[in-house]
Parts: sequence; C-alpha cells; structure tokens
Amino acid sequence: MHKILALPGDGIGNEVMNSALDVLDFLKTRNDLSIDISIEPIGGASYDLNGTPISESVLAKAKDSDAVLFGAVGGPKWDSLEWENRPEHALLTLRKELDLFANLRPAFLFDELLNASNIKPDVIKGFDIMIVRELTSGLYFGEPRGINLDQNPPNAFNTMYYDEDQIKRISKIAFELALKRTKKVCSVDKANVLEVSKFWRNVVAEVHSSDFEVCELSNMLADNAAMQLILNPNQFDVVLASNLFGDILSDIAATLTGSIGMLPSASLNDSLKGMYEPCHGSAPDIAGKGIANPIAMILSLAMALRYSLNFDELASQIEVAIKKYITAGFRTKDISIDGKFLTTNETTEKIISFLNE
Ligand code: IPM
Ligand code: MG
Repeated sequence: MHKILALPGDGIGNEVMNSALDVLDFLKTRNDLSIDISIEPIGGASYDLNGTPISESVLAKAKDSDAVLFGAVGGPKWDSLEWENRPEHALLTLRKELDLFANLRPAFLFDELLNASNIKPDVIKGFDIMIVRELTSGLYFGEPRGINLDQNPPNAFNTMYYDEDQIKRISKIAFELALKRTKKVCSVDKANVLEVSKFWRNVVAEVHSSDFEVCELSNMLADNAAMQLILNPNQFDVVLASNLFGDILSDIAATLTGSIGMLPSASLNDSLKGMYEPCHGSAPDIAGKGIANPIAMILSLAMALRYSLNFDELASQIEVAIKKYITAGFRTKDISIDGKFLTTNETTEKIISFLNE
C-alpha cells in the first residue's frame, strides 16, 4: 500500500490539487492501485486553522508518506506575519525535515507553444533542460543568521555554507540524470568571488572525474548563466546549482517556456521519497476563479508516480495525455493567444479523457 499526502495549501493550490487528485482517482480505479491518499492543510490555510503554517501531525504524516503532493502557499493575507508563521516557512520545514536535498526542475517548451514564449522562436525551439538545485543547505539554511536592529549600525547577515558531502550527493544526482539525457552538466557558481563556490567547483570536478567522466562538465558563473539562458538557452541540458542560484535560474528557465503554469518539480531525499509541487505559486490574483492551469500540478503527480512510487508507465501516460491536450489545441488562459480557453475543471476532464483513450 502506497501512501500519498496531498497538501493543497493556499490560492490556486486548492484548484490545481483537485485536478491532480481527480487524475489520481481515475488511475487508481482504472488500474486497481492500492494508494492511500490523505489531504491536510498547509501554509496560510494551516495558520488560519491551527496557528502554525505546518502542524506537528502534518509533518509526521509527511515523513510517513511515500510522496507528498504540494499545491502552493502564501498570499497577501499572511504577508505581514513573522517568518516562523509565514506560509513559506512550511515549505522550508518540509524540505529540511524530510531531507529533500535534490530539487529537480525540468523546463521544457512544447513546439505548439512556441509563440507563448517571449523569446524568438528560432532561439527557444526545442528547449528542454533539467535544473538540479540543492535544496537543504546553502544560503537558505546556513548558520549563523540574524538581524541586529539594536546594533550600530543596524545589520543583518546570512551564511552560505556547503560541506563536501552535501555537494557530492547533489552532484551525483545531476550526473546520473545527465546519463539519461545528453550527458551534459553545467555547474553554476560564483567562483570568481565566493570561497564556497570555489570549493563547490572543486568538489563537482572530483565527482565528475571519479565516476562520471563519460559526461561533459562545464562551469559557468551564475550571472553569466542567467544571461546565457536568455541568449542561447539550448546550450544547456542539466544545470547544477546551489540553493540560491538554483532558485533564481529556475524562475528564468520557467519563464522562457511561456508559462510557469506548465512546469512540475520534484524534491527528493536519499530514499527517493519526495515532495512534488508545481513551479508556480499560489497566484492570489486568479485564485477561486477556476481558470488556473492545472498542468504543472498534474505533471508533478506524474513525477511522484515515476520517482517515488515506481509507476513509470503511468507517469508516461499522464505526460502523453497532456501532450495530446496541447496538440489538440486546447489551452488554459495563461497559454491562450486568441482569448479562447478552458477552465481548470474542463482541462482536467479533457486530460482524463485522453488518458482513457
Ligand atoms: C521556490 C520558491 C521558494 C524558494 C520560496 C517560496 C521560499 O521561490 O520554491 O523556488 O525560494 O525556495
Ligand atoms: Mg523560487
């Protein structure tokens, strides 16, 4: 019996999670799968209910699940809360507590959506990369950290920390993924300035030369990588980055594809348990209108089935159904160019009907 925990969260997190759960229900019934699904509040929804963005019981349930499906958290309602109570804190708690160090963020463009990108079609055509972001260390978690408002001058500080083991394990993930793709890894850092980046570069090189020499490894400074993603995105395949640089580059990469409403992500630990979430956020501006694009969430479900539940075939079927939806010309509002679009529910129904073919 597999266990899936669904955490819809806030804003459109609820709408897109409903879509993914409809798809999962359909597959469960059709394939007679024994998957136990439970649904719990997270983020602002949890704060409103329990006074905390993530309760102990939800955290315990997450640790006990094979896969966590995460919608999105946050919204203006909770923006003024202190950090411990902010919806985003739930996300970082889950990443740290479940040791989800490997964040896989694929970014790809369907040929049919070439015109949805702001980049010229001949530059972006065929875009298909995998960003591998370290997710449990670096500047996000380094100690010491703090704000000293009572000192003169008032100041604040964070620490960018990586140890050898942390860099090795994320590098291995990047090279292993590269082996299944075009065997190219570009590692991103600021080795021209930061000690932690010089160290990062050396450790990545070590992992490369000891186990993955069949792959081609290049290094790029983070600012240049941001520029190159726009100028010549197709030079990249697997991009390996620390927590902060991966955060920034993955938003750039997602935007190149026209809509971040299309892109899933997986965050995995050593035992391949994982959390799966769309790259988009809670989009308070369109929440509750029924027009959110559920594709990123449904593709995140596909990643969960592939990486944590070992149902590779079902994951591929979902991906094929989504491809059919796009090829048939259906669009949600974010990717429509002629003003015609399907609602979240209509899109989900279409995708399920393609799965049923
Ligand atoms: C992401 C988000 C988060 C991050 C925020 C919401 C804390 O931007 O998953 O990329 O910075 O990691
Ligand atoms: Mg981000």
